[in-house]
Amino acid sequence: MPPTFSMCWGAKNDEGSASIDIETRGRMVKRFFVIIVIAGYFGAFILLTTGLGYHWYSTKKAPHQPMAFPHTVHVGKLKIACHFCHFYADKSRHAGVPYVETCMVCHSAIATDKPEIQKLARYYEEKRPIEWNQVYVVPDHVYFSHKRHVKAKVNCSSCHGDVGTMEKIRKVRSLDMGWCVSCHREKGAPLDCATCHK
Ligand code: HEC
Ligand code: HEC
Ligand code: HEC
Ligand code: HEC
Ligand code: HEC
Repeated sequence: MPPTFSMCWGAKNDEGSASIDIETRGRMVKRFFVIIVIAGYFGAFILLTTGLGYHWYSTKKAPHQPMAFPHTVHVGKLKIACHFCHFYADKSRHAGVPYVETCMVCHSAIATDKPEIQKLARYYEEKRPIEWNQVYVVPDHVYFSHKRHVKAKVNCSSCHGDVGTMEKIRKVRSLDMGWCVSCHREKGAPLDCATCHK
């Protein structure tokens, strides 16, 4: 006879009678708690690992930055053109991050009482560049160039999403080879290996 749930609980003895003595009841209660503890232990373990995993995953998508720069304010509200800050996007492989001087065009006068702007002013006075952590990175063996894409009128948002809604920039595309190749196929852009692997 295959073991059944009721056997496991000892609810029925071999004769099929439902009478339970004190000792069996004690064992039942103990077994019940052992099951609860084991289930709780594994439950907590699973919660913890998914929690940590998600934290790791999301920080990988949005790394820590030295200053809380909001695209929501500058792009979403003020509608400053990307090129004003990402000056090299149509000129070079790299779009580039803005010089502190570019920020100070406005922030020598705007929001000077805010802590983040005072931080910005210190970089400016000490002539130190802000070391932003790059969010989008392709491996060294891959050749990518902004200039070609911008000239071909591929929108920033097809690769970086709607940054005007992002308080903090996070990675919205995988940047894997399949992603590059499928757009190239769709747009009739070059597909030979040497295009992206020099
Ligand atoms: C064209 C003008 C302009 C430029 C250029 C500019 N900002 Fe701003 N920035 C603003 C305005 C306007 C606000 C909103 C200020 C407010 O809420 O009082 C703002 C807000 C901010 C805030 C939020 C301040 C807070 O705590 O509320 C930060 C941080 C900031 N800017 C950093 C920068 C950095 C870094 C740069 C350069 C990469 C930069 N800004 C370039 C106009 C500008
Ligand atoms: C006022 C200046 C300013 C404007 C305007 C601006 N950006 Fe930025 N952008 C920054 C700064 C500063 C950083 C670096 C900090 C960060 O990652 O948030 C940055 C970072 C980024 C990054 C992440 C780059 C990486 O991999 O680290 C992307 C993508 C980006 N911007 C896209 C855009 C697009 C698209 C627009 C126009 C719709 C735009 N930005 C407009 C200042 C600006
Ligand atoms: C075809 C996809 C694509 C388009 C379109 C695109 N980007 Fe990028 N962007 C990337 C990739 C891929 C990287 C990582 C490049 C690397 O590691 O060299 C990147 C990196 C960046 C960076 C950080 C590193 C750097 O190059 O300075 C910024 C800032 C940025 N992009 C802004 C922009 C802006 C602004 C636009 C529009 C004018 C734009 N991008 C259009 C794919 C794109
Ligand atoms: C949203 C569409 C899109 C995505 C995503 C995209 N590309 Fe492109 N790419 C294009 C288009 C369109 C062109 C053609 C530009 C032209 O005709 O000059 C192009 C051209 C290029 C070129 C220049 C080709 C040449 O002949 O010199 C390189 C290099 C390149 N892409 C690399 C990449 C890499 C690497 C990725 C992924 C990280 C990528 N692209 C993702 C649309 C895309
Ligand atoms: C449009 C751009 C593009 C083209 C065309 C392209 N690749 Fe790639 N390739 C990438 C990018 C981006 C990566 C890095 C991301 C990844 O590993 O998926 C990559 C990664 C690779 C890798 C490393 C994979 C790994 O696991 O590290 C190999 C091998 C490779 N490509 C071979 C090829 C061959 C062979 C061709 C021609 C049939 C080709 N690629 C065409 C963009 C391209």
